[in-house]
Amino acid sequence: MREEYLDPDFIPEVLPHREGEVGEVFESLKPILDNRRATNLFIHGSAGIGKTAVAKFIIRSFREEGARGIYINCWYQRTEVAVLTEILRQLSYPVPRKGRSVDELVDEFAQNVVGEKLIIILDEVDALTDDSVLYVLSRANIPIGIVMISNEEYAMRHFDSRVKSSLAPSIVTFGRYSVDELFDILKERAKYSFKNFDETAVKVAARLAYKNNSDVRYGLNLLLKAGRIAGKTNSSLNINHVRSVEVIQDPKKEKRETELEGEHKVVIEALRALKNSASSVEVFAKYKEIGGKGAERTFRKYVKELIELQMIKDEDIPGRGKRRRLILRN
Ligand SMILES: Nc1ncnc2c1ncn2[C@@H]1O[C@H](COP(=O)(O)OP(=O)(O)OP(=O)(O)O)[C@@H](O)[C@H]1O
Ligand SMILES: [Mg+2]
Repeated sequence: MREEYLDPDFIPEVLPHREGEVGEVFESLKPILDNRRATNLFIHGSAGIGKTAVAKFIIRSFREEGARGIYINCWYQRTEVAVLTEILRQLSYPVPRKGRSVDELVDEFAQNVVGEKLIIILDEVDALTDDSVLYVLSRANIPIGIVMISNEEYAMRHFDSRVKSSLAPSIVTFGRYSVDELFDILKERAKYSFKNFDETAVKVAARLAYKNNSDVRYGLNLLLKAGRIAGKTNSSLNINHVRSVEVIQDPKKEKRETELEGEHKVVIEALRALKNSASSVEVFAKYKEIGGKGAERTFRKYVKELIELQMIKDEDIPGRGKRRRLILRN
């Protein structure tokens, strides 16, 4: 088995059943090739249905046409400084990570992009802590196309109205795949990865992925784990291997969990020690008691991130003002 072809970050040469969306995104951005302004885009849709894959695919096509493509995952670059620094880094103008003000970075951005044709993808755009960077980018005086991506249909709701009107994005909705479409997609990936496989095994994986909101990542993960089981006995992948794979809850969550900072784990431990449910004040006290290092503000940031990861949820405590109850999800 060649595992790399089942990796969720691998971008195949073709994206079956997203030809329409690829075409739509390409058409909107194409004006930059003639030194004109693109129509910016906001792409939304549920997890694992090809949003990031299409965006990276588009970057590749535009690079072939002489444009610069920049991909940023706002989960990792959340602030204006972080996003601008990352853009400059990808444009090969490294800036020191510390000690640059926003104004300096904006100037450096403006100077360094003169003469460029630029596509900027801001994936998971809802993770941005403030939207001012979008304003800066939308006002850049070069041929530029900005593509924002989110799971949340209303991710732009909180944006400043000037930001929204400067961006004026067209909206592209990615719908879920049917079972047959999932089968085609997974079969394509299976062909790359396995010397021998039984098509019914892929069919089962497609059906299971469909049940999980048509999440292709889920299907790929099933095939990967099933493939490892098949590999142990040197047999070709079959339906029993797929069936024997433990149900994987949420591969994206799984991936992020492994990337969590130690301090997030301390927050979770504190909540566990409080029988999985307690007010945020109690959890903070417990967090400090068991050695948490963050001050209250940092603690709140960890809590917010854990909520975004759907590892915990929060609820109002009636009659207690802004106090929240935190609950560990299973
Ligand atoms: N039409 C397709 N053809 C081939 N592979 C696909 C297709 N759609 C999705 N995939 C694959 O499925 C995996 C998940 O897709 P992707 O990362 O684009 O999901 P996403 O919509 O960005 O999800 P999230 O919101 O969780 O980030 C990737 O490996 C991607 O290559
Ligand atoms: Mg994505």
